[in-house]
Amino acid sequence: MNVLKFIILSIAVTVLVFACKAKETEIIKAPAKEKEQVQAKAPSYGAMADNIEKGKALFNDTIFGNGTAGKSCNSCHLGGKGLEMAGEKKEFNIMGKKQNSLEEAVNFCIKMALKGTAIDPNGKDMMNIVAYIKSLQSK
Ligand code: HEC
Repeated sequence: MNVLKFIILSIAVTVLVFACKAKETEIIKAPAKEKEQVQAKAPSYGAMADNIEKGKALFNDTIFGNGTAGKSCNSCHLGGKGLEMAGEKKEFNIMGKKQNSLEEAVNFCIKMALKGTAIDPNGKDMMNIVAYIKSLQSK
């Protein structure tokens, strides 16, 4: 009879210990998950800063938009000069032609000034060059 009691007690204790362990690991895991989420969000801030730097690189690149004129945006807009207001404008007048967005203005200069081909207005390069141009506002 004592042996049976011992076995039942052992089982009960084992179950209890496992139940506690399971809870413990849950508790330990929870904060780690939160951390992951925070870390997953962090790169988006990095990407923002990155965009401006990449945009600046494109701005100084003579083959941006497959340009064939040997000029970069910087050749005419030295250091972004003259584009400080472009980030806020809704309408542009470039060389007598009306452009209805900053993206159109950029592509117009790529085609007419760099003698290249228009880039995807929704693409990564456009996002980067626009980020750079908008960063000029504060200068
Ligand atoms: C050959 C010279 C030349 C080059 C190279 C050039 N642009 Fe322009 N850009 C102009 C001229 C001229 C204007 C119209 C006058 C002005 O606003 O400065 C203009 C206007 C603009 C505007 C509108 C500014 C405003 O506030 O109305 C933007 C934006 C712009 N350029 C972006 C670019 C980008 C991006 C590049 C490179 C892909 C580039 N430009 C290359 C000559 C050039």
